[in-house]
Amino acid sequence: MAKFRRNRFASVLVLFFALGLVSIGFTGINKLVTPAAAKIGSEETLVDKGSALFAEGCSTCHGLNGQGTSDGPTLAGVGAAAVHFQVSTGRMPMAAPGAQVMRKKPSYNEAETLALAAHIATFGPGPAIPSAEQVNEWQNASLAEGGELFRTNCAQCHNFAGSGGALTNGKYAPSLGLATPLQIYEAMITGPQSMPIFSDKTLTPESKAAIIRYIQELNKSENPGGMDLGRVGPVTEGLVLWIVGLGSLIIFAVWIGARVR
Ligand code: HEC
Ligand code: HEC
Repeated sequence: MAKFRRNRFASVLVLFFALGLVSIGFTGINKLVTPAAAKIGSEETLVDKGSALFAEGCSTCHGLNGQGTSDGPTLAGVGAAAVHFQVSTGRMPMAAPGAQVMRKKPSYNEAETLALAAHIATFGPGPAIPSAEQVNEWQNASLAEGGELFRTNCAQCHNFAGSGGALTNGKYAPSLGLATPLQIYEAMITGPQSMPIFSDKTLTPESKAAIIRYIQELNKSENPGGMDLGRVGPVTEGLVLWIVGLGSLIIFAVWIGARVR
């Protein structure tokens, strides 16, 4: 009888323990998914929102009016596309001036990024963010043409497989495995760092679409599934841990219950 009670007690304890872990797990996942940047009120206009975000996160290096400082170039005329590319790939805000900026987890969500882009676009005319229509054109583009264009225009820096490569002066061209079709389009029209700008005269919108199609194909065959894992890695890994961890706890509880009977 005493043994029976103890076992019942143990299984209840295990259940409580499991529930506690689940709630801790969800809090952790929530923290990972919710963007760190502050939420902004909806009554302000896009440009005003962008102005506040800019003053807070960018002006120390780029100057309050985007005129530039010794720590960052002027942003007059870079255009909304350059801002969306730099911020959505996590390159900006730059952590510290110096080495080549790398792709990292973005600090701003999409709405904040668009607000920053709208504000910086008021500094001077530059390339706008391509429309969804323009970007999605890759789905109708020719793969063979894309391959040819990629080999003549991009492969000398990004490698034939799009996996990137070293450039002179310690710089490098990154792998293209994580770039979204929109980011690929933006990279072509803004030419970040030592990458050339591919204007619509150099590469027509149809050619750009074909190149994007080819890069999508490369990424599909090179690392299936790898694209998304790179971005939501911590969440995915966390989930796996929860499923495995919880699973074993439940099996343990059932096992204790079965022993009682
Ligand atoms: C620590 C300093 C620093 C901070 C903070 C910073 N930047 Fe920059 N930014 C730079 C430097 C340096 C470059 C040039 C980097 C390069 O050429 O790779 C640059 C480049 C850029 C470019 C590309 C300019 C071009 O000519 O194409 C954009 C756009 C940009 N920054 C936007 C932003 C935005 C938006 C923020 C705030 C969210 C920000 N930056 C925060 C230092 C900074
Ligand atoms: C002269 C070398 C050079 C050529 C040619 C070149 N790129 Fe780049 N590319 C770069 C460099 C350098 C960067 C990194 C810029 C940075 O970190 O700010 C880059 C970055 C990119 C990115 C961003 C990747 C990411 O994950 O953030 C994309 C997308 C891209 N290039 C696409 C292309 C395409 C498409 C072509 C051909 C039409 C091309 N590039 C041609 C040098 C080059």
